[in-house]
Amino acid sequence: MSLNGKFQQLKVIAGFKGHRIWRGQGVLMETQEHRRQLVRLLRLAYSGELAAALAYSGHWRSLRDPEERATVQRIEREELEHRETVGEMLKALDEKPQIWREAMMWMIGRTVAVSCFLIGYFLPMYFAGKLEHANVMEYDGAAEHASHLGLERFIPQLHEMSKTEREHEVFFSSKALNHPLLPLVIAIFRWDPHEVLAIEPKP
Ligand SMILES: [Fe+2]
Ligand SMILES: [Fe+2]
Repeated sequence: MSLNGKFQQLKVIAGFKGHRIWRGQGVLMETQEHRRQLVRLLRLAYSGELAAALAYSGHWRSLRDPEERATVQRIEREELEHRETVGEMLKALDEKPQIWREAMMWMIGRTVAVSCFLIGYFLPMYFAGKLEHANVMEYDGAAEHASHLGLERFIPQLHEMSKTEREHEVFFSSKALNHPLLPLVIAIFRWDPHEVLAIEPKP
């Protein structure tokens, strides 16, 4: 083979290896990004569950109907269970919750708990439904990233939590209907409980 031929052959081999290295780096970057997104969502969820549990502890106490009180109290317990599960996932990934987010969510949860006694029946139900909607999306997103990372043991738990959040969303949606302020808050906050109930049956 001529010198030029050998040179061309070496260029092809180097190009092929380079392509493999490049592809390998791409997969590594993708994996790192899935992990980063999963940890971000788990930290959000961990602190969000604290805010939700604190808010619901005020919410159920502000309600008069015994059945509604019992349901929101149960939901409070379920949020605390979710927090525990998510905490274990973070630990398994060797990650920690963010202290500043914990403090912020504690403040938010406490403020909402008190405000439930001041702002009437409708708004706490509407905002709880909207919050639950975001939780469903968070756990679905986390399950997606866990699946890309091959974290099979996380997936059933994440789907289960997403399912429970959906049940919470349906409950609060059913309680936020038929209020004269509903069209206005839908226009402002862009979340419509009718759409939730059109997909899921009422509890
Ligand atoms: Fe939850
Ligand atoms: Fe929830």
